Amino acid sequence: MNLIFAVDGNWKIGFNGQMLVEIEEDLHRFRRITEGHIVIMGRKTLEALPGQKPLENRINILVTRNTDYNPEGFLVVNTLEDLFPLLKEVNPDKKKEVFVTGGGTIARQLLLFCNKAYITKIFKDFRNTDTFIPNLDLNDDWEAVWESEVQKQDDIYYRYINYERVRW
Ligand SMILES: NC(=O)c1ccc[n+]([C@@H]2O[C@H](COP(=O)([O-])OP(=O)(O)OC[C@H]3O[C@@H](n4cnc5c(N)ncnc54)[C@H](OP(=O)(O)O)[C@@H]3O)[C@@H](O)[C@H]2O)c1
Repeated sequence: MNLIFAVDGNWKIGFNGQMLVEIEEDLHRFRRITEGHIVIMGRKTLEALPGQKPLENRINILVTRNTDYNPEGFLVVNTLEDLFPLLKEVNPDKKKEVFVTGGGTIARQLLLFCNKAYITKIFKDFRNTDTFIPNLDLNDDWEAVWESEVQKQDDIYYRYINYERVRW
């Protein structure tokens, strides 16, 4: 599995159900990387999506403990144990990549199964945050293997960094 997230300087990712900032080019890149593949998200991340609609051209998997929740366009699992058989079913030949797209709760539980992370690192420490993912710079099991030039949108500076797991 792959992680794909935009983080601030403290690896915070959201506040009050929303992203910390919307970077247009980052959203395009997110689409380019994940299109045609499988995205996994928690219920709170789904609720932050525009219109709470599934992401187009992707298999959307929703994780929720609520067994009555069945939004259109999503395959729903109520436990993470159910996730793996579902992935086998929808991706029997493993041709599609699997992306953990949010939020913090889901990323923290699935990090153990990830071997690559596409991180957009925003050069700012946001004051109001309530959600985070683990800091891969402080994790000896992970190494940054590529980074882009610094990018800019208005007063936001950021760069894309790819990480790979070097040991399990
Ligand atoms: N910066 C980024 O790249 C990025 C990306 C995505 C999201 N975000 C932000 O992250 C925040 C949301 O993250 P979050 O951590 O609060 O919530 P989340 O991970 O999106 O969703 C949490 C929900 O997932 C379900 N869940 C979690 N673990 C489960 C398990 N083991 N089994 C069954 N269901 C499980 C539960 O849903 P139920 O309560 O329905 O049972 C839980 O309340 C928002 O602010 C969002 O904007 C940021």
